[in-house]
Amino acid sequence: MGIKAFIFDLDGVIVDTAKYHYLAWKKLANELGFEFTLEQNELFKGVSRKRCLEILLDIGNVTATQDQFDTWMVEKNEDYLAYIDKMDSSEILPDVPRVLNYLKGKDIPMALGSASKNARAILEKVGLISYFDYLVDGTNVTKAKPDPEVFLIGANKLGVPPNACVVFEDALAGIQAANNAGMTSIGIGDESILSEARYNYIDFTQISNDFLDRLIT
Ligand code: G6P
Ligand code: MG
Repeated sequence: MGIKAFIFDLDGVIVDTAKYHYLAWKKLANELGFEFTLEQNELFKGVSRKRCLEILLDIGNVTATQDQFDTWMVEKNEDYLAYIDKMDSSEILPDVPRVLNYLKGKDIPMALGSASKNARAILEKVGLISYFDYLVDGTNVTKAKPDPEVFLIGANKLGVPPNACVVFEDALAGIQAANNAGMTSIGIGDESILSEARYNYIDFTQISNDFLDRLIT
């Protein structure tokens, strides 16, 4: 297929941090007097921190002053970072290191494409930072997925045309962003949610080295 570069989302693709985002948002919701369910947490995947808080306050029918909004953003992130601080390589999702090592061994450029402002810290905690030639994260993206910006910046930094890039994503908005960028999208997770992906796998254990070879030749 002539693929020359791979771009990875972080949360839900490389590590399962969605559970920590959930616990931190749930704590804030409970403090504000309402419940926040795992099902509602699905809406938060791939969505910026600010937008998540807006959605959370809508769910709880809470109106906030700008000061309160800012305070709650900081509070949620501090609670989230307390979980991140305890992370290590045991939290890398199955077979992610095998795929990263295989591609690295073939000198294939790789980038991260995430909405998270904590991406660098998380990759450092789990010991994967050195695999990535470039990180695109919440600190250098202005338009949220499904806008293709995050992945187009990644392709540009790697010096590879979009149609020669593969994107691994666990969120529908991320698959749409990859498709909008003209890239080959690979959904990681539930096929019924990620049906717009070009390929779909439940996790990286299903992604064989042969399949990677077919993409890059
Ligand atoms: C990822 C996650 C979202 C999260 C966003 C911002 O896209 O899937 O759930 O809200 O990053 O993360 P941050 O670490 O900056 O709060
Ligand atoms: Mg994700």
